[in-house]
Amino acid sequence: MSKKLFIETLGCAMNSRDSEHMIAQLREKEGYETTTELKEADLILINTCSVREKPVAKLFSELGVFNKRKKEGAKIGVCGCTASHLGEEIIKRAPYVNFVLGARNVSKIGEVLHKNKAVEVDINYDESEFAFDDFRTSPYKAYINISIGCDKSCTFCIVPKTRGDEISIPDELIIGEAKKAVDKGAKEVFLLGQNVNNYGRRFSSSEHEKVNFTELLRRLSKIEGLERIRFTSPHPFHMDDEFIEEFASNPKICKSMHMPLQSGSTKVLQEMKRGYSKEWFLNRVEKLRAEAPGVSISTDIIVAFPGESDEDFEDTLDVMRKVEFDQIFSFKYSPRPETEAEHFTNIVDPEVASDRLSYLQALNTEILDKKNAEQMGKTFTVYFEDLNADGFVSGRTDNNFVVKVKGSEELLGQFRDVKITKIGRTILTGELLV
Ligand code: 5AD
Ligand code: SF4
Repeated sequence: MSKKLFIETLGCAMNSRDSEHMIAQLREKEGYETTTELKEADLILINTCSVREKPVAKLFSELGVFNKRKKEGAKIGVCGCTASHLGEEIIKRAPYVNFVLGARNVSKIGEVLHKNKAVEVDINYDESEFAFDDFRTSPYKAYINISIGCDKSCTFCIVPKTRGDEISIPDELIIGEAKKAVDKGAKEVFLLGQNVNNYGRRFSSSEHEKVNFTELLRRLSKIEGLERIRFTSPHPFHMDDEFIEEFASNPKICKSMHMPLQSGSTKVLQEMKRGYSKEWFLNRVEKLRAEAPGVSISTDIIVAFPGESDEDFEDTLDVMRKVEFDQIFSFKYSPRPETEAEHFTNIVDPEVASDRLSYLQALNTEILDKKNAEQMGKTFTVYFEDLNADGFVSGRTDNNFVVKVKGSEELLGQFRDVKITKIGRTILTGELLV
């Protein structure tokens, strides 16, 4: 009988891909199968996120619960970004944890499993050319890492301290992985990196051809049978004209762009060391919308960064009103260890911070309701990926609306035209056109 693995994944898409890599290694080399039942697991993994404080605090209470409920003899491993930044401290605070495995060390999962109290958290470890075994949660969409780490030094962000310096994965490996996924039936690839449009600045081997992100997109789009290419996250600073023009003119690139704004105030952006101004951001949006009409634009916004005044916050709202984002991930600033901003003293009053977040989210809802209502009666091509429990099948339009229709699994992996008949805030409902 196979051994059972219970894995919980928090955080971003990169973490989800790391979990897939660990599952792959554990299946192929160690004979594990995944389970959703904690009690029957022989190995429990928590793949953690440390980008904000909350999930870190939750980790220890959750570990306690897992330790109480686990089957006798089951091992517990803590992986991911919090493992990178807390390292040994995790075992000190929770001595029943069997190993700690940092982000960027996931290829060592088979090793740490057989050692007692192993702590592998080297953020300079280079896995950029490691040949992971194959495992994908979805057969329809393949997540592919194109780089590891991040070379930026945004003053709020812990990621460079948990995922290390940026190294690009050689393009031939990425293309090989995409082809393999397409051969197995995937029609969409989702490229992942902390800063995808900085791709190609540094490879593991200094002799590797300097392929940039735009060129990588061109090369990938030549793969026969690959219909859709998505990626996250690009950095507004690196959105040059060549990149936007390729994005707009290449029919295989989905017309959906994530543009993490963080703040609309040039002063705050400078304090954050983002490398662009409010005007540059708006200029890039304008160029994008001119070249790719109908493109959807999503963003990340942090409110109440140290020193953010009412006027600075107004600038953020101003960008929101001008751009009318299609999706916003918004957060209250959370001081993180080992970041520059951790030492900033001009902290915004927590009540003001909460008010700003609520205001921003209410404005976002207003904008979304208006934009979603405009989709009524329109026809979109939807790539169906998920079977829902309620007799519906859902997928995404090229410009990233989630659409569901009544149907069954025959629709999965198919492109079908759908007319929108009902509007919801996060999901549109439609009818298949024959
Ligand atoms: N506080 C709040 N939000 C943060 N993010 C990153 N670091 C912090 C922090 N210290 C947000 C940013 C980033 C997203 C992944 O998380 O908006 O784009
Ligand atoms: Fe992903 Fe960032 Fe969380 Fe790390 S800290 S898991 S990179 S979201």
